[in-house]
Amino acid sequence: MKQAIKKADVLLEALPYIKSYSGKIFVIKYGGSALIDPDIKRGVLEDIVFMSYVGIRPVLIHGGGPFINEELKKSKKKVEFKDGLRVTTKDVMQIVDKVLSQVNHSIVDHIKELGGRALSLNTVKKDVIKTRPHKEHKKLGFVGEVERIEVDIIRKAVRPRSVPVISPVGLGSEKELYNVNADDVSSEIAVQLKAAKLVLLTDVKGIMREKDNEDSLISTLSKEDVDTLIKNNVIQTGMIPKVKACTNALDGGVSKTHIIDGRIPHSLLLEIFTDKGIGTEIVKERT
Ligand SMILES: Nc1ncnc2c1ncn2[C@@H]1O[C@H](COP(=O)(O)OP(=O)(O)OP(=O)(O)O)[C@@H](O)[C@H]1O
Ligand SMILES: [Mg+2]
Repeated sequence: MKQAIKKADVLLEALPYIKSYSGKIFVIKYGGSALIDPDIKRGVLEDIVFMSYVGIRPVLIHGGGPFINEELKKSKKKVEFKDGLRVTTKDVMQIVDKVLSQVNHSIVDHIKELGGRALSLNTVKKDVIKTRPHKEHKKLGFVGEVERIEVDIIRKAVRPRSVPVISPVGLGSEKELYNVNADDVSSEIAVQLKAAKLVLLTDVKGIMREKDNEDSLISTLSKEDVDTLIKNNVIQTGMIPKVKACTNALDGGVSKTHIIDGRIPHSLLLEIFTDKGIGTEIVKERT
């Protein structure tokens, strides 16, 4: 009996959050690194299904870095990054597209298995993310920047309880495919959809002051702090596009952005439905 009452307490604790977030769009980026472990993947997708049942409208953008690396190694192709962005030749792009489509469909199937509704948005028709070549395209190859998000396609898909699942592959002006950083894509989508939150799930606790020291986690950062940490080489590699995605979203009117640990069981639910913030929150100004 006591335990049953405790359960009711937990549900009631979530009520104010459910009330204020019901009907709101949350853009969630699920990083490739946190996609590998099947138990973690299941937990993340369960959270997303839960969110959709309580009226939140999640939009999911996924990565796929480790799977792409694995496939490149199998095909004896070079894995190369510059400033956190993958060097993408035409051959590499073909592999990127193939692998990301597989990842996308596996997420959609899994959400459906968990009783949710999901829609793969851009694995066949790629016209959701209109792309221009990255300014460093001579060095990076088919790496693109978001030119325009066809936001109406996403809006139509965000029906109650249906989760659009978007892969970070964009289309150029000549219908060529581009590898777009999933953090950038999620940020632009969050701005265009006027999302209430942008949440980036990754495979570390959040932003840390010292590499690999989880005790050095920084809970709250302002935009200004972020610039300093990049200058001082504290924020590096894959974390750079992430913090930039957060500051861009804040500039575009998204009120809250979070970088959280996808490895913690149900980190999304903890972040959204409890007072205890986990991971790193990036805000316009620190109070
Ligand atoms: N100051 C920092 N604090 C925490 N992590 C950092 C920091 N600087 C760099 N990193 C690196 O950023 C990585 C997260 O970015 P990464 O691109 O690897 O993951 P992801 O975006 O979740 O996955 P994917 O790119 O495959 O979708 C961490 O694993 C860590 O190695
Ligand atoms: Mg990344």
